[in-house]
Amino acid sequence: MNVLLMIIILVSTLLYAQEPISPIPQSIPHDSAKAALGKKLFFDPILSRDYTISCASCHDFSKGGTDAQNVSTGIRQQKGSMNAPTVLNAVFNFNQFWNGRAKNLTEQALGPIHNPVEMGLSPKEAALRLQSDAAYSHSFSKITRRSTVTPDDIAEMIAEYEKTLITPNGKFDRYLKGKAALTPNEAKGYLLFKTLGCISCHNGVNVGGNSYQKMGAIVPIKHSTRIDDRFALTGREQDKNVFKVPTLRNITLTAPYFHDGSTATLEDAITKMSYHNLGVKLTPAEIDSLIAFLNTLTGEIPAQAYP
Ligand code: HEC
Ligand code: HEC
Repeated sequence: MNVLLMIIILVSTLLYAQEPISPIPQSIPHDSAKAALGKKLFFDPILSRDYTISCASCHDFSKGGTDAQNVSTGIRQQKGSMNAPTVLNAVFNFNQFWNGRAKNLTEQALGPIHNPVEMGLSPKEAALRLQSDAAYSHSFSKITRRSTVTPDDIAEMIAEYEKTLITPNGKFDRYLKGKAALTPNEAKGYLLFKTLGCISCHNGVNVGGNSYQKMGAIVPIKHSTRIDDRFALTGREQDKNVFKVPTLRNITLTAPYFHDGSTATLEDAITKMSYHNLGVKLTPAEIDSLIAFLNTLTGEIPAQAYP
């Protein structure tokens, strides 16, 4: 995460310091020429080995920036082992991927291109492809003032585009700013979210995305070595089933839920979450209120998300 963005988030946090969640800013400073090129790349299957898959295949904005599948399908119909998180507001996460193995969006962007079950193209091949495409070659050199395209250039343009993929003005943010009132059920849900302790892991501008926590902190879940949790990265016993806490922004748009997409409905996700991580069994009325509150976290899909 860059320094400017950290300052923006800090200011927003201080302004709304009485609440553990802060609103999404209206925009983040970005270079619009780079973002426009990044947008073209995001929607272009040229970045996959067989020209069939683009970033947007798995991060579809009509599906909240996800693919609505349990786990994603890449080139040649290959299945991965992880659920695709949304790219909306990903810029606010303290690092990227479920286990945080990329420290920012630039570092993340080349991952799926290279991944054999996702796009299956080495970053070097991707750069050569774009360089030999007259239109791309021209667009890149206009920005970089070089005749060659490098993998880092590709990552930089895509990451710049992702800064535009934020969803301000959701009802909850308008409430924080004193511009909207929550219904009694939404307010009850927010109160529950705080008193039950959901807020201890899901807080800040992204209502998540800022810490690693164990799934099954109170009532453990089975561990699978097929999963890219923190353990897959560190090999430390205590990192089994530890993930970056996902954002709850736009959560009603991004079913199915959890790292493996194992849970189809928000109702079931909340039931499992409260049982495994807080050790409580909620009543149907409490779940209903929590869903009403989570609904208020849905923001405006930015114009930049449409081709
Ligand atoms: C075949 C499906 C697929 C394609 C194609 C794909 N992704 Fe993803 N994306 C995923 C999955 C699955 C994950 C989660 C993987 C993990 O965390 O181990 C992910 C994670 C991410 C994340 C991290 C979000 C977070 O909250 O941690 C970002 C950002 C992202 N992808 C952007 C992109 C970009 C940019 C491209 C194109 C260059 C792309 N993706 C192509 C499936 C895909
Ligand atoms: C101890 C930390 C912790 C607490 C407390 C907690 N969560 Fe979570 N939450 C997580 C983690 C970690 C994940 C990802 C788990 C996984 O993918 O297996 C998650 C995932 C979720 C998801 C699914 C998100 C997605 O994109 O798939 C929802 C919904 C959710 N939590 C809601 C809640 C609610 C509501 C509460 C309170 C009842 C709560 N959480 C309490 C850490 C926590």
